[in-house]
Amino acid sequence: MSLPKITVVGAGNVGATAAHLLALKGLGNITLIDIVDGVPQGKALDIQSSAPVEGFQGRVVGSTNMEDLAGSQLIIVTAGMPRKPGMTRDDLLAANANIIGPIAEKAGKLAPDTIFMNVTNPLDVMVALVQEKSGLPQERVLGMAGVLDSARLRTFIALRLDVDPSSVDAMILGSHGDLMVPIKSSITVAGKPLSELLPDDEINALLDRAKNGGAEIVKLLKTGSAFYAPASGAVQMAEAILKDTKQILPVCAKLNGEYGLNDVCIGVPAQLGAKGVERIIEQEITDQERAELLASADQVRDMVKALENIQAKA
Ligand code: LAC
Repeated sequence: MSLPKITVVGAGNVGATAAHLLALKGLGNITLIDIVDGVPQGKALDIQSSAPVEGFQGRVVGSTNMEDLAGSQLIIVTAGMPRKPGMTRDDLLAANANIIGPIAEKAGKLAPDTIFMNVTNPLDVMVALVQEKSGLPQERVLGMAGVLDSARLRTFIALRLDVDPSSVDAMILGSHGDLMVPIKSSITVAGKPLSELLPDDEINALLDRAKNGGAEIVKLLKTGSAFYAPASGAVQMAEAILKDTKQILPVCAKLNGEYGLNDVCIGVPAQLGAKGVERIIEQEITDQERAELLASADQVRDMVKALENIQAKA
């Protein structure tokens, strides 16, 4: 059986960990691309060398040539800069747009059948940029953040209640930033509403911890940000796409009227399969959650506008 071609762009912590997990799960032949010569080749060879022990079939190769993403069925992009001291949000926006834009253009030309998953921050704005620059159909451009944010929330609830984390159902929607929207009204533990298991103030504290989950890790690590859980999130989405499982996950996707939102890329529950974002699910949310989702979308729109202004000046 021939394996699909998966390209991971960015061989830093998130990209390399994602490549490792993709290989371990036997999801495809992997091309790991980075601009720093030696790093993608070295990490790819290292992952490939674990194949006899781990028992996976895929080939893992490294490259510094972006053209090697040609013919991919799935491209996962983690390349980009983290925010450095003294850098404004706009500086990061411009810097990462200059990295992601050209990758998106190349993907549209050289891998016209691909599904393009962005992991680079600012997440939702970069997904919008890929939508524009790649020319790929909108259902084949998506972003990973909601799985990560939701996984953090599910983890904190599971640790608090001492239950299996996979028994906790919780979704965080909206943008991947200060205004992410935990859907408090639908959190369940083995089918039981969380509100029957914990007092409201404790639930709110867990939601806040999840919202700041990325920052908590940055603070501990001091240099760099989270990568194990982000990579797991990307690979869960990759598996749903490549195995056509139709799993419903929180995904950053372009909306056309769902949740009353148009022409904005933001985290919503979506069914993933071989065609990419196959269906956006409009789940029941409270009026308050809807208002928070709209505010979150406004923030993404403002950042998209800020990026357009930066690009117009350049
Ligand atoms: C996080 C950043 C990296 O949530 O987006 O960990």
